Amino acid sequence: MTSLRKTVAALAGSALLFGALAGCSSERDSDSASTSGSGSGSDSTTIGIAMPTKSLERWNKDGAHLEELLKKEGYTTTLQYADNKVDTQITQVQNMINDGADVLVIASINGTALGPVLEAAAAKDIPVIAYDRLINDSPNVDYYATFDNELVGTLQGQFIEEQLGLADGAGPFNLEPFAGSPDDNNAKFFFKGAWDVLQPYVASGQLVVPSGKAPATVEDWTTIGVQGWESATAQSEMENRLNSFYTDKKVDVVLSPNDSLALGIEQALTSGGYATEEWPLITGQDADEPNVKNMIAGMQSMTVWKDTRTLGDQVATMVTQIVNGEDVTVNDEETYDNGVKVVPSFLLPPQVVTPDTIESMLVESEFYTADQLGL
Ligand code: BGC
Repeated sequence: MTSLRKTVAALAGSALLFGALAGCSSERDSDSASTSGSGSGSDSTTIGIAMPTKSLERWNKDGAHLEELLKKEGYTTTLQYADNKVDTQITQVQNMINDGADVLVIASINGTALGPVLEAAAAKDIPVIAYDRLINDSPNVDYYATFDNELVGTLQGQFIEEQLGLADGAGPFNLEPFAGSPDDNNAKFFFKGAWDVLQPYVASGQLVVPSGKAPATVEDWTTIGVQGWESATAQSEMENRLNSFYTDKKVDVVLSPNDSLALGIEQALTSGGYATEEWPLITGQDADEPNVKNMIAGMQSMTVWKDTRTLGDQVATMVTQIVNGEDVTVNDEETYDNGVKVVPSFLLPPQVVTPDTIESMLVESEFYTADQLGL
């Protein structure tokens, strides 16, 4: 199958915006569509799926779920993980193109490094869906499916605000903020969402940052970014902050943008001898299994859960819509400007999970079994 992308370009150019999550559809260019037939995939249609790394639980779940859905639809799939190495991911995507992929689904490692390989995809009219992370500086990204990334940060910020009673004037509290990988486009949205809530309390003195690692503005978030979202880097950074700035005080709250960082931070607090009763408030994201277990053990206060099954479902729908030359459902055409164009997006809702709601949210929805979590 060829020429899907011409259809997609026409679709994206004329998409209409409706309200959140109700979804909307793009207009379609019927004469350039090339389909696999009657609404379901054909095994001659190949979908290339590029994922960043197996080292984080969520990407394993994402890849496995999406592949299963696409296979059920009758597509041939190629699923590749790149060990968080940008060059490896570029080679993998290039190989998918060479091997005749009809649609590419890419969760990028570095949001700005894929321009040239996407040129090669465009030259073969292969449509590209950015999965979870936006691909920047390229006109050759047709759709983006993700969770509302800024809302993830807002939920973390609001959780801290509520738990500490900041709106009622409580404080001062010692805060240590962290941000995600500087090369991940999502990371700035997470930080912005949280910092817009918390920064006024830093300004008022209700939140104090003893390490001084409070970015002056949201735009300076990369100064506290943790490259590659590495737990070990977050751990050593937290250890440094504790050793240098907390010899005579305790940290009350840590803004961690995701669970892999939270895990490292929690390890640093354990090594630093923090007892249960002085354990700080810690945020997270992803509901990774070790973090949910830490929540049960009182070592993490919340996680923002993104039910990656719903993202896979949405992307599988997008793939089928593209393959069949149908209108592609999006619900946001304003937020995700990749530097060249605003990429039509479908945003899914993230949800807060606390120790009290693990059972009702994560177990009842079968994201985990009670056994897995030791419940
Ligand atoms: C994802 C997060 C994830 C992080 C590290 C981000 O792009 O949106 O869910 O925790 O990458 O893998």
